[in-house]
Amino acid sequence: MGIIISIANQKGGVGKTTTAINLASSLANLGKKVLLIDLDYQANATTCMGINRGSFDKSIFDCLTLDATINEITMKTDNPLIDVLPAKTTVESIEEKIILNSNRDFILHTQLRPIRSEYEYILIDCPPSLGYITINAMMASDGVIVPVQCEFLAMDGLTQLLNTIRFVQSKKKVNKETLTIYGVLLTMLDTRIASGFHVVNEVKTYFGEKVFQTIIPRNVSCSNATFYGVPVTEYSPKSKSSISYRQLAKEVISRNE
Ligand SMILES: Nc1ncnc2c1ncn2[C@@H]1O[C@H](COP(=O)(O)OP(=O)(O)O)[C@@H](O)[C@H]1O
Ligand SMILES: [Mg+2]
Repeated sequence: MGIIISIANQKGGVGKTTTAINLASSLANLGKKVLLIDLDYQANATTCMGINRGSFDKSIFDCLTLDATINEITMKTDNPLIDVLPAKTTVESIEEKIILNSNRDFILHTQLRPIRSEYEYILIDCPPSLGYITINAMMASDGVIVPVQCEFLAMDGLTQLLNTIRFVQSKKKVNKETLTIYGVLLTMLDTRIASGFHVVNEVKTYFGEKVFQTIIPRNVSCSNATFYGVPVTEYSPKSKSSISYRQLAKEVISRNE
């Protein structure tokens, strides 16, 4: 049965999408069959997995409004071990439609059930909000990875995020399911700047063992890879960020198996 992990933080620009695509790529490198779900309107994860925006009709948002099934929207990628459920930039508010569904928190959970066993890891790239879309991601998940950028105000908003995680945990408990914080991932550490290390210490003091040992360094290859629309682990496999993401994949596996 596939392990489902949401990559969530309502702050934008903290490395959610970068983590989702590079973790997907690194897990596949270790022979794992992976499904990457893009739940962000910006559809960056979709593009970075080499999927052209014009090449598909329906997206994951059509699954949330029950206008499509997962099988209908599943896209293959160049990597035979990675499938993607793509997102589409859309003007209509999906959240407004989701609210009308009496099963509103569990739509994704229900939709993923039939295909879960086809994958070893299912990664969900969450949007930068704590609305119904992120709630759906967490309700469907076994665990959450929280990327935290090693910058000023890194911890800002984490209380709200933890409250949302607790809310989901209490709802899942009714169904005898759990949601674990798999780990807090420190991202974009600039090793030349002392303040970055202050954030590392602050986050480690607060979250203790929950912090992944792997820290993702700030690395120009990473932003270049985004520009060319590929995971950095493929764009520049020997770069520091690639090495770190491959290390993270091993850590994620060791936390699960
Ligand atoms: N380790 C890194 N080093 C350098 N740039 C990074 C790194 N991780 C992410 N970025 C860049 O930071 C920006 C925001 O990252 P992204 O993953 O899109 O964040 P989010 O999904 O949380 O909004 C992107 O332009 C990305 O290329
Ligand atoms: Mg993103």
